Amino acid sequence: MSDEPTEHIKKFVFNSKKTDTSTSPELIEILIPEKLAASYSFYTWPSAPILAWFLWEHRAELPGKHILELGAGTALPGILAAKCGAIVTLTESAVLPKSLQHIKRCCEVNGLTNNQVRITGLTWGLFLTSTFALGPIDLIIGSDCFYDPSVFEDIIVTVSFLLDTNPQARFLSVYQERSADWSIEHLLHKWKLRCEHIPINTLGSESGIDINELMHDHTIHLLEITKD
Ligand SMILES: C[S@@+](CC[C@H](N)C(=O)[O-])C[C@H]1O[C@@H](n2cnc3c(N)ncnc32)[C@H](O)[C@@H]1O
Repeated sequence: MSDEPTEHIKKFVFNSKKTDTSTSPELIEILIPEKLAASYSFYTWPSAPILAWFLWEHRAELPGKHILELGAGTALPGILAAKCGAIVTLTESAVLPKSLQHIKRCCEVNGLTNNQVRITGLTWGLFLTSTFALGPIDLIIGSDCFYDPSVFEDIIVTVSFLLDTNPQARFLSVYQERSADWSIEHLLHKWKLRCEHIPINTLGSESGIDINELMHDHTIHLLEITKD
């Protein structure tokens, strides 16, 4: 018998009750293969659908935008953005080849090829040649990257570098509150970044989605981080 954790496919449906005939899609289904017994990156964390819904509600702004997802895991938000016409780069820790391979699988299951989505290793706080070759970025996205204080400064350092090279860009970060004692405020100050909380209480209402149901029992926040 194989020791490989069993894979199952989770379906996420993004729809709209709007009846206008704009060019934005009004229904997208995304299939995410997950392996529950594997590591962090093989499971879709509760923040990911929240970020995906936020992007869905702003889908008219996505076509042609260069989007970079950090710590993508199963990459639900990035895959949705690509389906809405963004030019997407999905990244994961460069030392997790199986996770990078799994992102490729998630893309393939959704009919996205190498031409439509780029997948590359990007380890927070580490500056490899590939980090300098990421190309232009309009929007950085990250779901549940701030999951452990030991990685907070590494993420902030990477985001600060990416925003230095793309000063017009912003970082949309959705995170699940795990401890009221955790804070990134001093790091934002140290790395000269500005942060705003974006309210998400009405997210999904356009589609008849109850945000509280989507969050289950978690407290989830959306931050927009830019250069100071
Ligand atoms: C809590 S999971 C969130 C995964 C996914 N974004 C989601 O919301 O479903 C954290 C992710 O960060 C990745 N990660 C952890 N440390 C990292 C690092 N130093 N550099 C880049 N990615 C890292 C993990 O592999 C994992 O995919």
